[in-house]
Amino acid sequence: MSETYTVSVEDVSKSFGAFKALNGVTLRVRQGEIYGLLGPNGAGKTTLIRLICGLLEAHAGTVTVLGQRMPNVGVLRHIGYMTQQAALYPALSVEENVRFFAAINGAEDGVKEALELVQLYDRRGSVVATLSGGMRQRCSLACALVHRPELLLLDEPTVGIDPQLRVQFWEYFRSMAAAGTTMVVSSHVMDEADRCQRLGLIQYGRLLAEGTPAEIRGQGGSQNLEEAFLALAGRRES
Ligand SMILES: Nc1ncnc2c1ncn2[C@@H]1O[C@H](COP(=O)(O)OP(=O)(O)O)[C@@H](O)[C@H]1O
Ligand SMILES: [Mg+2]
Repeated sequence: MSETYTVSVEDVSKSFGAFKALNGVTLRVRQGEIYGLLGPNGAGKTTLIRLICGLLEAHAGTVTVLGQRMPNVGVLRHIGYMTQQAALYPALSVEENVRFFAAINGAEDGVKEALELVQLYDRRGSVVATLSGGMRQRCSLACALVHRPELLLLDEPTVGIDPQLRVQFWEYFRSMAAAGTTMVVSSHVMDEADRCQRLGLIQYGRLLAEGTPAEIRGQGGSQNLEEAFLALAGRRES
């Protein structure tokens, strides 16, 4: 029997003008899995995430999320998307921001739980503009997950945050995945790769390699993931 996937990207290509940002990418993510999309700046991570949530349309190939061919507006309420640049209203309070995203998705009852998860319940009255970068990042995460999405797309969620908060974020992610949420997390930081169940290495719009962190080490011939990645990238170029 063929397995059904929460996310299925089949031979997808996407160009901006003459520039091919994604070139024949195929990957599949199972329910409750944390899939890490790893690659340097400009590799195509954000483009792929936008295709998965249907903000962009592929020029070739297909993207299917929760059984529906994307783009599909109906699927959006089952997806949470934390963008690379925080998309918060700076003049509103933490709670007002989260409440706004909840209202869009008809999920006002999730506000308190989301604020508690990211440990901002006590700061819910603070205006976002007055928050530290880490708190803003936590607020963005609360906005992305307040409607209890089945699929969470996190575009470099831990860039620019301190190691302590990074550990906390991964604790949230793991507990959400354990509860059945599927996650695609992009990163260009290799030390995060080990926290994912499966990795896709992406460069120049192509998937170079895919597997568990252990498998990637094996394929790249190094115990060090960064070295393994570079070895795999070099092999592709030569
Ligand atoms: N809207 C756009 N118009 C033109 N080029 C784009 C656009 N979005 C992305 N690109 C280009 O596509 C490539 C991949 O970008 P992106 O997906 O943002 O990479 P990453 O997230 O891995 O850093 C880059 O070269 C980028 O400049
Ligand atoms: Mg990006």
